[in-house]
Amino acid sequence: MKFHPAVAKSSPTLLGRNQGVLQRKLLASFATISMIFPPTILPRGVAQEAQNTKPSMQDAKVRQRADALLQQMTPEEKAGQLSQLFLFTKPDAAMESRIAKGQLGSLLFVTDPSVINHLQHVAVDQSRLHIPLIFGFDVIHGLRTIFPVPIAMAASWDPDTIERAQAAAAKEARAVGIDWSFAPMVDIARDPRWGRIVEGAGADPYLGSAVAAAQVRGFQGAYIGAPDHIVATAKHFAGYGAAEGGRDYDSVDLSDAQLRNVYLPPFKSAVDAGVGSIMSAYMDLNGVPATGNRWLLHDVLRGEWNFGGFVVSDANAVNDLQTHGFAADKADAAMRAFTAGVNMEMAVTKDAYDNLPAEYKAGKITSEQLDAAVRPILETKIRLGLFENPYVDEARAAQVLGATEQKQESLRAAERSAVLLRNEHALLPLQGSGNKNIAVIGPLADSKRDITGPWVFVNKEQESVSVLEGLKQVAPQGTQLNYSQGVQISRKFPSMFDAIFGGDKTPVWAEAEQKQEFDKAVQTARSADVVVMVLGERQNMDGEAASRSSLELPGRQQELLEAVAATGKPVVLVLMSARPLELRWASKNIPAILDAWYPGTEGGIAIANLLYGKAVPAGKLPYDWPRDVGQVPIFYSHDVTHQPDKQGTRYWNEESTPLFPFGYGLSYTNFQFSNLRISHDQIRRGEGLDVMVDVRNSGTVTADEVAQLYLHQQSGTSSRPVRELKGFHRVTVAPGETKTVHFNIDKADLTYWSAATRSWVQDDTHFDLWVGEDSNASLHGSFAVAP
Ligand code: NOJ
Repeated sequence: MKFHPAVAKSSPTLLGRNQGVLQRKLLASFATISMIFPPTILPRGVAQEAQNTKPSMQDAKVRQRADALLQQMTPEEKAGQLSQLFLFTKPDAAMESRIAKGQLGSLLFVTDPSVINHLQHVAVDQSRLHIPLIFGFDVIHGLRTIFPVPIAMAASWDPDTIERAQAAAAKEARAVGIDWSFAPMVDIARDPRWGRIVEGAGADPYLGSAVAAAQVRGFQGAYIGAPDHIVATAKHFAGYGAAEGGRDYDSVDLSDAQLRNVYLPPFKSAVDAGVGSIMSAYMDLNGVPATGNRWLLHDVLRGEWNFGGFVVSDANAVNDLQTHGFAADKADAAMRAFTAGVNMEMAVTKDAYDNLPAEYKAGKITSEQLDAAVRPILETKIRLGLFENPYVDEARAAQVLGATEQKQESLRAAERSAVLLRNEHALLPLQGSGNKNIAVIGPLADSKRDITGPWVFVNKEQESVSVLEGLKQVAPQGTQLNYSQGVQISRKFPSMFDAIFGGDKTPVWAEAEQKQEFDKAVQTARSADVVVMVLGERQNMDGEAASRSSLELPGRQQELLEAVAATGKPVVLVLMSARPLELRWASKNIPAILDAWYPGTEGGIAIANLLYGKAVPAGKLPYDWPRDVGQVPIFYSHDVTHQPDKQGTRYWNEESTPLFPFGYGLSYTNFQFSNLRISHDQIRRGEGLDVMVDVRNSGTVTADEVAQLYLHQQSGTSSRPVRELKGFHRVTVAPGETKTVHFNIDKADLTYWSAATRSWVQDDTHFDLWVGEDSNASLHGSFAVAP
């Protein structure tokens, strides 16, 4: 697979991408070598050589050091390295004593550098073998500086932006002593009811794979142990996003073809990018809990993919094997997870892996098995340099957190992520003249809390910029901004995180106040030239344990939207959410709709810049936007079945096409695709081909377009989707300019897991190819593959 397909002949800046192509080809040939070497040794070293970066340490030396330690360790100390505990507050004596005995190898949720240093001293100074702790945390989209939520960053269709953002997040994390992020979440999500859609890259395996690799590069840098970087975790292995009914944690039933073609590729991509760890998922996959699933964790991950890092369970997932009716008791749970391939147990309090020494002494685990589980954890600590530099500089940490550099990356990512869904009569960008009086309305318009989205814990709310504040900074002088909240969105409680960390304590309006605020908002709209409404879901309405059975705007927001629109004033709807909300009415009645996602710390400025044309929207949807929740799941890459031309009428009460297709997003300019060139009419199996297309900007502003390439296989051993994304590139095109975008299609793009043969297959057949601005792209070509 390749993720930077474009080489625009007319653009010197893009020519550099050639190196990326070269590097991929190199990596592909190295992949063949990897069959010959032991899996723990090769992948990372090869990746380092291929990227021409300096590895922190040679693989053989790292292994020797780890083995030297293993030889001295007791079974209890080994089990300690396989154990991780949460720490939300200050450590107690029991925990410190456990660390001092070498019976705890890792902690999560510690973010205070002084506590990290203190605990690290206990581990290094007091434990027999002086093995440092590794501190993990959910650095999902930033630590102190919050970046757009991951689904938003995926909507940038820009791996470079994503890599930069996660590198900036890693810098803050490493500065406080966090060595390891539980991100990226690379679960494919085709059901927007599932709250964790916010954490992934959406519905598509190709886009998802590109985003996964970019995040791994961002977190880890060129190699594990790179300065200012941390270890990444691809999670939740695997299939978690396909939960029945979109209900979080529920079981998943997926065919092997779905798994191989759709759900596993982003994990494979993360592994190929050198990800240091993998987190096992909570749910049953086809009847076997993912955390006790040897086929997944051993056969596929280590056997087929040569993964050389370590697997951590999801929180309490090892103990949970009992809940599933899988393990008989805690010791059995430990054994089932351990033998399946879970190296480290993430436990809340009661850890099953405490049973491992006894199981070892009883002869149920060999010392080779125990060492094989501990080795990659020690290797990771060695690579990170924790043995040499276990402590952090607290004064430096204070300087790094929230620094301007990260804020600028966050602003850039937010501007590049927003998706313009509708813009009738070019209402946007707002012109200074004629729009002197702006009504800013909605429960999310002045919220500094909600703008960051979920999975934020140590940011400072006062540092984030609300939309109202952003507009105040960006709007031309003389603009009058009148704010009115209009409605409150009732809090969704108990939100898991609000329950743990304390939620929003804003008092709830009484009935009279509700009416008064609603009327005031409508009145504010009436006296404005244009209305900016900021509606959507509150921060913790998306995320873990935050699934919904409906996609409606929560609370009375739809009513407010309709009442404001009824004033006849032009309305710009800014949506803040991470799932596609019900927009059927709005998409006919509201002239401009900007999906801003949860844009992060600098979100208000990003949105204001976009509304005023200081930034031009170019984000594209990473999923199909359903008309109605009843259409879920709906995705463009469905199979072609009886009467394919009647897709729109498959329900009698509603069209069965999406409201907005995958890959869709408007701009303030117009682009035309033309001059499609395909290097070969026919290729041999195993060969690749080149595709070129011209993209012209016929408007008046410089803007980005995402050129997208889709393929359809006409016949084969199994039915193939109507079209599938197989290449994309985001290019900047000046007014009047034409850029040539170059895609390369290779064997991997033409190969799939066949449901019929239950193996990877490349068929000799004909392919349709489309290039254009979204998944409805119409510029068509074709080619054939012969034996
Ligand atoms: C449970 C979540 O499923 C996982 O994604 C997260 O990393 C852990 N909790 C730790 O917070």
